[in-house]
Amino acid sequence: MNFIKLENMNSISKNLSGEMLSAINQYKTPLYFYDTDTIRLQIKKFREAFKTFPLLIHYAMKANSNLQILKLMLKEGVSLDTVSLPEILTGLKVGFKSKQIVFTPNMVDFEEITEAVRFGVFINIENLSNLEKFGKKYGKSVPCCIRLNPQIISEMEGEKVRSWHEQSKFGISLNNFDRLKSIISKYSLRIEGLHIHSSHVIMNPEVFEKGVATIFQLAAGFPHLNYIDLGGGLNFPKPGKENILDIGTLSKGIQPYYNDLCRKSGKAIELWFEPGRFLVAESGILLVQVKVLKSNGEVNFVGVDSGFNHLIRPMLYQSYHPIINLSNPGGSVKTYNIVGNLCEIDNFAVKRELNEVREGDFLAILNAGAYGFSMSSRYNSRFRPAEVWLKDHRVECIRKRETLEDLFRNQVE
Ligand code: LLP
Repeated sequence: MNFIKLENMNSISKNLSGEMLSAINQYKTPLYFYDTDTIRLQIKKFREAFKTFPLLIHYAMKANSNLQILKLMLKEGVSLDTVSLPEILTGLKVGFKSKQIVFTPNMVDFEEITEAVRFGVFINIENLSNLEKFGKKYGKSVPCCIRLNPQIISEMEGEKVRSWHEQSKFGISLNNFDRLKSIISKYSLRIEGLHIHSSHVIMNPEVFEKGVATIFQLAAGFPHLNYIDLGGGLNFPKPGKENILDIGTLSKGIQPYYNDLCRKSGKAIELWFEPGRFLVAESGILLVQVKVLKSNGEVNFVGVDSGFNHLIRPMLYQSYHPIINLSNPGGSVKTYNIVGNLCEIDNFAVKRELNEVREGDFLAILNAGAYGFSMSSRYNSRFRPAEVWLKDHRVECIRKRETLEDLFRNQVE
């Protein structure tokens, strides 16, 4: 059996091709494969980078909500970031205590917030409409956190970022800061947390630094403040992508603002984060088999037994996922379009160099652990793949492949 290194493809330098091929042998393709050591390593890196702060990590479970992965997070002492009532219920089912869960929904019915209050989780409010209702109903009896939108546009990033901001529905804009303050004083609200979240789309050091500066400066005006929540959006180094935020540098950048705030408020404010992709993206690999090779004109198509029903990120966000040919690591390098089997345009990668591909070869699509399975669908009436993980040198199934019964469930015949 040929072994290849994932070095330079993925910042996790680890040889897992043997384990992946034996997982394929047992569970067939398409298959999601996760490496638990990588998740643990990412948690460790995160803690290490922020070790000078009273740090709380809330894993954004929207990235990957497999019960076993949530259990692993719980075991590692990581808390949970949720965005819906079913996510809260999932967290509680897995064993998280309500005080280990934050609820950061977006544009939800106020009813959902009252439900979440009943569950006893931390409440994050991101619009003035719900804040007003919250004030009327609970006054100062239930503390909450406010999500701000600092409306920072990085000149460096240009159009993409500008349009992202124009479309951004998140958080309470600083333009509404006076109205925010007046609702808080009208109902004597206890604002215990301030929150910002920068999408990975705009995540670069300059944007983050400005966001941090803004939120820490505003924080001094909130006397009940116990924590600052800097959200998620933290990326990881990828080949060909510069200007990725380094969490060590980020941590150093935050320190002076943090020290200043603690001095002013006379207490040790907690620092919270809600990373999703940082913790799980690199641990996950979508394993597929090449079923059809075809040349149309100049283009060499590699057709695999998966598609955007299983990993939608390349089609939806033009995201880059390194791909390796597990079956022919020494083959000469050729250029291909790697496509799925759905009946419409369905690209995993365009003009991608790969070791020569033959029908029957197995390919590994890397960095698929975040927003892979969790955004999958049954489009074209195809089953969602099984999920396995590598734990203590053993491959274990953590979700079975779907079957026909899953397609028919809840339908009325
Ligand atoms: N906190 C809040 C309030 C969020 O909205 C999100 C993600 C996170 C934390 C976690 O962000 P992360 O660390 O994973 O970047 N489906 C897209 C990502 C959408 C992110 C939505 N919010 C993708 O596949 O890239």
